[in-house]
Amino acid sequence: MDLIQRLKSDYPWIQTPLVVSAPMRLIALAELAVGVSGAGGIGFIGAGTDVSDLEKHFEHASDLLARSSSPPKSSSEVLPIGVGFINWGAQLDQAIGIIKKYKPAAVWFFAPSSKQSLKEWSERSREACPEAKIWVQVGSVREAHLALEIRPNVLVVQGTDAGGHGLAQGAGLISLLPEVNDAVQEKIEKEGCEAPIIIAAGGIVEGRSAAAALALGASGVVMGTRFLASKEANIAKGYQDEILRAADGGQSTVRTKVYDNLRGTTGWAESHNARGVINRSYTDNLAGMGEAENKRLYEEEIKKGDEGWGVEARMTTYAGTGIGLVKEVKGVKEIVEEVRKGVKSALNELKV
Ligand SMILES: Cc1cc2nc3c(=O)[nH]c(=O)nc-3n(C[C@H](O)[C@H](O)[C@H](O)COP(=O)(O)O)c2cc1C
Repeated sequence: MDLIQRLKSDYPWIQTPLVVSAPMRLIALAELAVGVSGAGGIGFIGAGTDVSDLEKHFEHASDLLARSSSPPKSSSEVLPIGVGFINWGAQLDQAIGIIKKYKPAAVWFFAPSSKQSLKEWSERSREACPEAKIWVQVGSVREAHLALEIRPNVLVVQGTDAGGHGLAQGAGLISLLPEVNDAVQEKIEKEGCEAPIIIAAGGIVEGRSAAAALALGASGVVMGTRFLASKEANIAKGYQDEILRAADGGQSTVRTKVYDNLRGTTGWAESHNARGVINRSYTDNLAGMGEAENKRLYEEEIKKGDEGWGVEARMTTYAGTGIGLVKEVKGVKEIVEEVRKGVKSALNELKV
């Protein structure tokens, strides 16, 4: 079976080219996930490092699906959405109980604390829900090799343009994805096992970038930043306005640990940091402001509500370098359909 047929058989409601919404912690909840799957993509709920509210989000998603007039068609065994964990922080036993109860079609792993931990998460998830496909997000060829040991169904290859967390040292998709693809093929040929499906993430916000990712060897694309500017995202208006305002993402965003430190989101390994829009928190840190003072100012800024976001403000605005191409808040259905259509026209217009 070719990879696209396999995708269609694993997730029978999808349309291709496949568009996936990233499991963004606190932001990608039931409405976003169900909306994306309803539009023929695959929507993920972001559980992140804390699964204490996850059951509530699954209840909400189940309710939305039950009330939908045309729910995405999944096998009766699984819910047609996925869930994403940040493994170093998420509570395994609690997560497994929820996977067993709600049976998501896909379970996404990111940043496990060790190879052993990744193995344990995947074995226990497969045991809890054998129908759920295992997705692992990696940011380097080395991480891809490690992930391959648990035989993931899907490898999400995350380039350094991605918004939010990822490897501090990385490469853009244009060099990373083909190299990962070759490494996967080599291993598969040697071991004779089934190849994982490769999905690209990082900097993709519209049809042209999605088409490029497919040309690099991906079978679908993940978008995070684009969905920050969606009606279904659980996001403050000030944050969303910044996504629309910022342009020239290579200049207006930066990978740093500064924002995590100020927010107290500690626990990430040294290997990881996060990409966000440059604001006063970052420029003051660069200019030598101590962490205690910067944190004090951050706490003050929170009290300002939506005014706390902006170039001259201080609130964290995680986003990828594709931010300059995101100009309008739209519903997820429109976003997914636009990207699918955009891929087709970008490929049609190719002259070689
Ligand atoms: C605000 C935000 C939060 C994110 N949270 C998570 C997360 O909780 N778990 C995860 O695996 N990836 C997370 N990511 C990374 C995405 O999985 C994905 O790699 C990234 O959004 C792709 O790049 P893009 O933002 O340029 O589309 C997050 C990204 C953003 C922008």
